[in-house]
Amino acid sequence: MLIRKATENDFEGIWPIFQAVVSKGDTYVFSPQATRRDAFEYWFGPGVTSYVAELDGRIVGMYKLMPNQRDLGSHVANASFMVSPDARGNGIGAALGRHCLEEARKAGFKAMQFNFVVSTNTGAVELWQKLGFKIVGTLPGAFRHLTLGFVDAYVMFRLLDESAQ
Ligand SMILES: CC(C)(COP(=O)(O)OP(=O)(O)OC[C@H]1O[C@@H](n2cnc3c(N)ncnc32)[C@H](O)[C@@H]1OP(=O)(O)O)[C@@H](O)C(=O)NCCC(=O)NCCS
Repeated sequence: MLIRKATENDFEGIWPIFQAVVSKGDTYVFSPQATRRDAFEYWFGPGVTSYVAELDGRIVGMYKLMPNQRDLGSHVANASFMVSPDARGNGIGAALGRHCLEEARKAGFKAMQFNFVVSTNTGAVELWQKLGFKIVGTLPGAFRHLTLGFVDAYVMFRLLDESAQ
């Protein structure tokens, strides 16, 4: 599997994965009806660097990396991940996570923060904990899950040091 920087030409591969993820209404705040424009701005908007995972020439997942805050908070990174439903459970999410930590460290970020990990998204919570993130806060009822209703969201955080892996 190849993980490389995304270009706008990759959008045709990114869009169906984005759509499959947000249509479930269980992990991201996007409306299940989010548009191509919403998706394009999310992955290629100002200040965003996106990466894709390619397997046999097909995009199977992606992540984006950006500063979590402007100016005096810009030393903390933020990132988001999506893997194609038919490619999950094969280590792609973990590989993207490790790649992201390394890219963030190389870019000089001091820490990484996820602002909104849906508490019922146990696969993601477990993955981020394995990659060294801790739950540092709980936002009560902050996510309106499409089938479960109001559920908590977590803020997850880790420092980036030489042991970032
Ligand atoms: C979260 C996501 C990126 C994981 O991608 P993936 O390629 O399936 O993950 P991996 O195969 O690398 O799994 C790595 C670890 O994550 C955890 N994990 C992933 N999916 C899981 C699941 N459905 N149930 C339990 N644990 C899971 C496990 O700890 C797993 O380790 P293991 O293989 O040793 O058991 C993917 O499920 C996804 O795109 N989900 C929808 C979007 C999303 O939730 N993004 C993250 C928002 S915070």
